[in-house]
Amino acid sequence: MNEEQRLASQQIKKDKQPAKDYSKYFEQVFTAPSLKEAKKRGKEDVKYHKDFEIDEQFANMGVGRKFYIRTYGCQMNEHDTEVMAGIFMALGYEPTENIEESDIVLLNTCAIREGAENKVFGELGFLLKYKRKNPNMLIGVCGCMSQEENVVKRILKQYQHVDMVFGTHNIHRLPTILKEAYLSKEMVVEVWSKEGDVIENLPKKRLGSIKAWVNIMYGCDKFCTYCIVPYTRGKERSRRPEEIIQEVRSLAAEGYQEIMLLGQNVNAYGKDFDDITYGLGDLMKELSTIDIPRIRFTTSHPRDFDDYLIEVLAQKGNLVEHIHLPVQSGSNEILKIMARKYTREHFLQLVDKIKTAIPDVALTTDIIVGYPNETEEQFEETLSLYREVGFEMAYTYIYSAREGTPAAKMQDNVPDDVKKQRLDRLNEVVREYSAKALEKLVGTEIEVLVEGSSKRRDDVLAGYTRKNRLVNFEGPADSVGKLVTVKIIEAKSHSLVGEFIK
Ligand code: 5AD
Ligand code: SF4
Repeated sequence: MNEEQRLASQQIKKDKQPAKDYSKYFEQVFTAPSLKEAKKRGKEDVKYHKDFEIDEQFANMGVGRKFYIRTYGCQMNEHDTEVMAGIFMALGYEPTENIEESDIVLLNTCAIREGAENKVFGELGFLLKYKRKNPNMLIGVCGCMSQEENVVKRILKQYQHVDMVFGTHNIHRLPTILKEAYLSKEMVVEVWSKEGDVIENLPKKRLGSIKAWVNIMYGCDKFCTYCIVPYTRGKERSRRPEEIIQEVRSLAAEGYQEIMLLGQNVNAYGKDFDDITYGLGDLMKELSTIDIPRIRFTTSHPRDFDDYLIEVLAQKGNLVEHIHLPVQSGSNEILKIMARKYTREHFLQLVDKIKTAIPDVALTTDIIVGYPNETEEQFEETLSLYREVGFEMAYTYIYSAREGTPAAKMQDNVPDDVKKQRLDRLNEVVREYSAKALEKLVGTEIEVLVEGSSKRRDDVLAGYTRKNRLVNFEGPADSVGKLVTVKIIEAKSHSLVGEFIK
């Protein structure tokens, strides 16, 4: 960047106005979530790139400036934040946790439920106060919400203090977007409705040094009728196995102890390759030979969970005996209108196969209650399925209508208070089974990966078991980052208390 550009980029306009007419932009670039349109997408055009580099014109753009990213939602978003932080730092920006001293504030948003979106709109309102104090501050919205046309329109109309909006397929364009935001009087909006290619060499600033996230695929083609993800994250695109294996190898060499493989629907991994037949089972098999203590993955879809994967997971080693397997509902009618493409019986058969191959497996799940027209009997089938499987834990949600999804068009005749009661009743069962699973561990010796001190007490260590259970115990401070053996002496409602053994 030459001196003139640099000065221009620092000269932030105080009279920033939203563009007068974005309609052309919306016509050309944006498509509201549409099942019909999205289902037309093919698998032909994914290209793999390793050519990301910071153009000379952007070098030093961030020198003397600080960035702050607030992340909402899932681990995929957390990992995207690591990539954006990597890009910021490559541009010379420094991270900060303090909004007041930030030159750039980014909200990396989640669109999965209305509540998640409301939090972001609340935060945007709140940021106005900071922007008034520091008019030079740039405010950006990225992540899943920015892929929604209605959200972008609302930001343009009601949140004019926002300087940039960019989508989940535009992260690698961050340097250009930032430059435009510095120079433009208008809000910079760059959202591609069509997913981008896979870019392999984006910089990353990992948040931890013990556990690391590794993307194995992007997007989702399942189109469950309630879910916005296939629209906000685009079609399924798998990373090539050699890239993933290489990344895990380097993380192992750097001393990381645990890898979480990420994808919206990891069981579809590899289905988009047209030159090789290679699935999640093959990938896990290869990763199991790498010298790193623990490897997990999330999130699974029961439909694509195949026998070979079960066979590979049964070998254990560094593949942990914990599977998060979202079921969503125990009723065949509801599963059908959710378009989950399996029945209660299929799901139970799958669970049976997994338990036969891995008898000490811990299964956890996601459940939605109060789906449009869900009856009391159908809800009770979810409770009975939960008991029959004996899940050790669950994330439970009240159905939230997402504009543009097929479910949002269904008439919803379940009153809010009934939905709320169902959630409470389900959570009671979840608590009961979680407590049982924890109590069973009292008296046993268990492997814990120590992550640091506990939230409440500095002199108590905290870590997680292979099944992802939190254990607090007193022990040597130098065990942080290591695997230790702990004897469990007490089960609390969500965690375990132990004694350090070795
Ligand atoms: N309403 C409520 N919960 C939802 N989920 C996804 N979409 C919705 C929605 N519209 C839940 C599912 C999924 C988890 C990540 O979020 O249970 O597995
Ligand atoms: Fe959404 Fe998961 Fe269904 Fe994909 S598989 S549509 S991410 S719930």
